[in-house]
Amino acid sequence: MRKKIVAGNWKMNNDFDQTLSLVNELKECKNYKDVSVMISPAYPFLKTSVDLLENSSIEVVSQNMHQKKEGAYTGEVSPGMLKSIGVSRTLIGHSERRAYFNEGDEVLLEKIELALSSGLSIIFCFGEELSDRKSNKHFQVVKSQLDNTVLKIDKDSWGKIILAYEPVWAIGTGETASPEQAQEMHEFVRNCVFEKYDNSISENISILYGGSVKPSNADEIFSKKDVDGGLIGGASLSAKDFNLIVEANSSL
Ligand code: 13P
Repeated sequence: MRKKIVAGNWKMNNDFDQTLSLVNELKECKNYKDVSVMISPAYPFLKTSVDLLENSSIEVVSQNMHQKKEGAYTGEVSPGMLKSIGVSRTLIGHSERRAYFNEGDEVLLEKIELALSSGLSIIFCFGEELSDRKSNKHFQVVKSQLDNTVLKIDKDSWGKIILAYEPVWAIGTGETASPEQAQEMHEFVRNCVFEKYDNSISENISILYGGSVKPSNADEIFSKKDVDGGLIGGASLSAKDFNLIVEANSSL
């Protein structure tokens, strides 16, 4: 069975006190039993968030990790470090990592392999830029992003992978992909997974949409058959809005 998921990527927002308040507010929100809820605070606040959410169903996810196990990589964080504080999932391949930190397919594949072999699950992000869409290359670009990374991973690890389609032109811009554009790409991605593996994997993989999802558009996006949830940026910084988005993905 495909899991419904709503994950909040807090990016480089919120100091310690703001993180505590938001986590505590979210703890009080209604628990929709058919939706897995995840939040991704900044590195320094992961452990506190894990502790605060110990008896809650909200999972704490890292925004990134380094591609090497350990060593002289000043300023970086390894999967082992994340595991040791109770974090068992990380985002990999967010478009901001690709754009501002030059993370290309090769490094992303290293990260995926190390995460999985270290026992971390992943949310793998991908998506085309505006110029790709304008030149009608969006399917080709997405296929290549997947072919060079997650689709190289063997079948047995796919239980630990969530995919997140985030068209770069829709991130933080207020411009959302239309529900039809999201559905069309999610269906294409599911088919890429099917072609590489089999029906049991493609039908069970959760594919999230990310890019300017808000309470006012979440319902329509989540109603599409291949959209299993969302990866939320800006709107995840408000407990009220985030909770409304979680509610929009619940059928209860
Ligand atoms: P926004 O929801 O702010 O557009 O960000 C989406 C995103 O990048 C989530 O990872």
